[in-house]
Amino acid sequence: MKEHKAPIAECLVKEIAKPAKDSVSEVVRSGDLVSYCAEEGVRILGEGKFLVSDSFPGNDRTKYCLTSKIPLGVVLAIPPFNYPVNLAVSKIAPALIAGNSLVLKPPTQGAVAALHMVHCFHLAGFPKGLIGCVTGKGSEIGDFLTMHPGVNCISFTGGDTGIAISRKAGMIPLQMELGGKDACIILEDADLDLAAANIIKGGFSYSGQRCTAVKVVLVMESVADTLVEKVKAKVAKLTVGSPEDNCDITPVVTESSANFIEGLVMDAKQKGATFCQEYKREGNLIWPLLLDNVRPDMRIAWEEPFGPVLPVIRISSVEEGIHHCNASNFGLQGCVFTRDINKSILVSDAMETGTVQINSAPARGPDHFPFQGLKDSGIGSQGITNSINMMTKIKSTVINLPTPSYTMG
Ligand code: G3H
Repeated sequence: MKEHKAPIAECLVKEIAKPAKDSVSEVVRSGDLVSYCAEEGVRILGEGKFLVSDSFPGNDRTKYCLTSKIPLGVVLAIPPFNYPVNLAVSKIAPALIAGNSLVLKPPTQGAVAALHMVHCFHLAGFPKGLIGCVTGKGSEIGDFLTMHPGVNCISFTGGDTGIAISRKAGMIPLQMELGGKDACIILEDADLDLAAANIIKGGFSYSGQRCTAVKVVLVMESVADTLVEKVKAKVAKLTVGSPEDNCDITPVVTESSANFIEGLVMDAKQKGATFCQEYKREGNLIWPLLLDNVRPDMRIAWEEPFGPVLPVIRISSVEEGIHHCNASNFGLQGCVFTRDINKSILVSDAMETGTVQINSAPARGPDHFPFQGLKDSGIGSQGITNSINMMTKIKSTVINLPTPSYTMG
């Protein structure tokens, strides 16, 4: 995959307008994921358990239980448009090392990159047919695939379609990552330069089209003016234009996404949010926008724009920030900026999210870390180790010995 990174990355640039450099990183990261997964799998799958029956009350030592991990069968992998290669590979690699075969349904935009990526597995010697790649619109082929009796596990990353899939899927393991409204809580003692840099990276990389993007800033009123000024200065430096030119902000994936983002912005405008920049849009290209003084009655306080538009809510207590975070139907990641380690851990414990980052923007990687959402953000835990475990089941063999009364005679 690393040898073929250039043509795959070129597809990402063209299909999903991911900046050229980030497109290459996505492919390289995927190659690293495969290598790590191959090593991790060997160890995980080499381990089993040995249990003896007399450790449970009422039993003699007459039964020995040997457990090992076996594959599930066919894994259906459905990655999203924003990582057509990496979030496909994060499902393919654990599925294969665990001994499964796989059906991949790539996103409509990103399908060509995914086909190139699958070809790399063939070039590496995997038999054709071990990974089936089925392209098409989810609205047309999704139900057929997700409800197919031959599918033994579904790993899906995307929007709330995942909720419908989990209702329709049969009695099979599901791994679902369905978006987030990742909150960034800034306490009074935070390093505001560090926070501002992470808000920019977290909120605007790939034009905000990441489930782990910072999607709402909850900042203590006493430091809000300073923080907003710092973030505003950095927003002004973001470059806007084409992915080929490595611009920071590139067109969002579809016209309907751009319209949705615009709807959130207009709602906030009508309800009195402060625009730190002028709102500007050309086709699917939306200029980065920081919205200050956002209030809970605005849609953008709760909905995920999946675009370069970031709301700031001023809070008067840490509890208010935690309350806002926990009132969300999402619970993917969150972050807190403070110099006080004790406070940061208390805030982390109180936030109802799968992960809390202390003094850094939310992110899925490194790819062997556990990654999971609470509430509508999904079920199951990802990360290489968790995915391998999830894509296997336990098989037990019990050795029954003669009862003690006549064994020794
Ligand atoms: O969009 C969802 C991805 O899981 C986010 O991954 O944190 O590496 O950008 P990332």
